[in-house]
Amino acid sequence: MEKRFWEQLSLALAFLLLNVGSGGTEEFPSGFFGPAGLPGIPGMPGMPGKDGRDGIKGAKGEPGIPAHPATRGPKGMRGDPGLDGVPGKRGMPGLPGPTGEPGVMGLAGEPGEPGIYKQNYQSAFSVTRQTVGHPLKNVPVVFNHVITNINQDYNTTSGKFTCKLPGLYYFVFHNSQTANLCVILHKNQMRVASFCDHNTNTVQVSSGGILLQLAAGDDVWLGVNDYNGMVGIPNSDSVFSGFLLFPD
Ligand SMILES: *[C@@H]1O[C@H](CO)[C@@H](O)[C@H](O)[C@H]1NC(C)=O
Repeated sequence: MEKRFWEQLSLALAFLLLNVGSGGTEEFPSGFFGPAGLPGIPGMPGMPGKDGRDGIKGAKGEPGIPAHPATRGPKGMRGDPGLDGVPGKRGMPGLPGPTGEPGVMGLAGEPGEPGIYKQNYQSAFSVTRQTVGHPLKNVPVVFNHVITNINQDYNTTSGKFTCKLPGLYYFVFHNSQTANLCVILHKNQMRVASFCDHNTNTVQVSSGGILLQLAAGDDVWLGVNDYNGMVGIPNSDSVFSGFLLFPD
């Protein structure tokens, strides 16, 4: 330590003397004192000092973290079972089961309301032929005057009854004649029955009737042949009638 001190002091003096020799002469009178020298260069850094003494004891630390579970004591006795948990969610529905046996037949119900066949299942006609002329043979005799003709099933232009409601029908005629007369009842183009009567009086009546099972669309009509003495005059009518007896 002392050696370094002296080395630095001698260096400083050397710089001071150099400055006296070459310094300016304006501030100080020459021959007496020279100008102040330049500061010396900083010395070398010293060696690190020795370690200090131990400090005072520190404050007590925070509690430590709990020990690892593995370090806990031995396993205890098995406890009692806990309470039942809440029921789980409802599962998906299963597949439908097989069809069961038919049940016992129930009691009969009350009778139903009366049907409406009275309105819907009606067919009946009575028509007259009002002319002195004798009808043409082998074509429908036209009864041109309507007495009864429900639902217009008899056509007074064509002379044909046309079935609309299938079922069993009854047809009947009462014809006045002034000459020989054969009345032939037709179903469609088929002859079903013939009624012939030779005339023996001025005016006489022949008649006939028949039951026919008809389908919808069937025609029924009366025809004549060469014996065609049918008339329709006052007091001597020719009437053709028919009606549905039993609907299908
Ligand atoms: C009646 O018959 C005539 C002649 O066949 C026909 O022109 C007419 O359409 C018929 N009428 C009905 C209501 O069927």
